[in-house]
Amino acid sequence: KKILIINGPNLNMLGIREPDLYGAVTHEKLVGLLANWCREAGVGHDYFQSNHEGAIVDRIQEAYFEGVDGIVMNPAAYTHTSVAILDALKATAIPTVEIHITDVSTREDFRRVSYVALAAKHRIMGHGIEGYREAIGWLVDYLNKA
Ligand code: DQA
Repeated sequence: KKILIINGPNLNMLGIREPDLYGAVTHEKLVGLLANWCREAGVGHDYFQSNHEGAIVDRIQEAYFEGVDGIVMNPAAYTHTSVAILDALKATAIPTVEIHITDVSTREDFRRVSYVALAAKHRIMGHGIEGYREAIGWLVDYLNKA
C-alpha cells in the first residue's frame, strides 16, 4: 500500500514559525520522521508540501491516477477556507485523515470550521508532530481492514 502525505501553507516554516504553538521540530526533520513512521507502519509514501491551493488540488488528482491508497493531510490554513480541496478529496474518494499540530477547536473561532473534515475519515488535532504518526497508524489500520 502507498499513502501520500500533504502539508499545506506555511508548514515548510516549521521550527521557525510560532514555535510556542507549533514546536521546535523543523520541516526538514519532520520529513525524515514521516519517512521513519511510514517505514515502521509498513507502508510506502510520497510527501508533498505546497503553499498554493491549486497545486494541492493538482496533487490530489494525480494521487488518484497514480492509485494512491490513502492520504494524510494537514491542509493548514486551507482547512478553514478551501472548498476546492474538499471537492478534490470528494472527487477522488481517496480515504483521508486530517491532522493538525494544534487543537483547532480551542483557538480562534475561524479555525473551528473545517471544510476538509467533510471528506475526512478521521481527524487528529492537538497532539503536536506526534499526531502525524497517529494519523499514519490510523490510516494504515483502516486500509488494511478495507
Ligand atoms: C494547523 C492549524 C491551522 O489553523 C493553521 O492555519 C496552520 C496549522 C495546525 O497544524 O495546527 O497553518 O493546521
